[in-house]
Amino acid sequence: MSVRILATSPLVGPALAELGGRFPDLCLAAFRSPAWNAALAETEALVVLVSEQISEADLDSAPNLKAIGAYSVGVNHVPVKACVARGIAVVNTPGVLTDATADLALALLMSVTRRLAEGEALVRSGAWKGWAPDQLLGSGLGGKSCGILGSGPIGQAFARRVWALGMTPIFWDREGRGGAIDFGAGQAQRLPLGDLLSRCAVLSLHCPLTDQTRDLLDRSALEKLPAGAVIINTARGGIMNENAAIDLLESGRLGGVGLDVYEGEPRINPRWLGAPRTVLLPHLGSATMETRAAMARVLCDGLASVLG
Ligand code: DGY
Repeated sequence: MSVRILATSPLVGPALAELGGRFPDLCLAAFRSPAWNAALAETEALVVLVSEQISEADLDSAPNLKAIGAYSVGVNHVPVKACVARGIAVVNTPGVLTDATADLALALLMSVTRRLAEGEALVRSGAWKGWAPDQLLGSGLGGKSCGILGSGPIGQAFARRVWALGMTPIFWDREGRGGAIDFGAGQAQRLPLGDLLSRCAVLSLHCPLTDQTRDLLDRSALEKLPAGAVIINTARGGIMNENAAIDLLESGRLGGVGLDVYEGEPRINPRWLGAPRTVLLPHLGSATMETRAAMARVLCDGLASVLG
């Protein structure tokens, strides 16, 4: 069997099929299936989903590998340093999922602060008895500070959204230097992490999971947040200590948590399921038709240019 490109799944839109037209030795096999394991030995390019962890041992098993295509902007599931050392290109999908992800973060923020999931469940249960002055009161956002971890395109897109709601965005990023961030609708302060945490009513995560950001929000960092703060995570599990966040929710110190990503997903820490004031989504940040098709196009174009 000759395989130049080994993909684990069809992608949204025509891009992967078109790539297969150009490189007919494209094989589709489920991740780590016997067919995938067998094809690995001869493939020149892999296409993997965000949920499929590639190891250095996989690189050892793939002596002809020239490129790994990640159908995501995040590449924490790819051993990037080892790829660089071996001259293997890592192709991902930056740029095209910025708005979709920022939109979903905003949707989570509104869901948590306006208690949308509880309201929907009340209506569906048939138990709603009608309007009441104190029914399902949430909290407003205007005039409050929104801490944003990560000042890249998604963090800035989220800043524009909360700015439009009357919030003041403030940033922390891995560069760590002072100075303002121009987020397109205005300038926002960039602060050391501790200062940012102690000021923000909302904290939204938009940085990649790296050695530097793993467990960035440990228990002592989370305890710096003001009482009633809300956390939104559409970035990656592993940046925030989940058990510490759940403890703070259960004690009433955190105002709410909205999650689209989890450490070890799709396994979910069972404590989330019973935690109060949470909205839990299944990693939907980039899940629009347009975005997923655009991601496939960026990925396939990138692979085609590596394979020549
Ligand atoms: C990404 O692209 O990294 C998202 O998490 C999945 O689309």
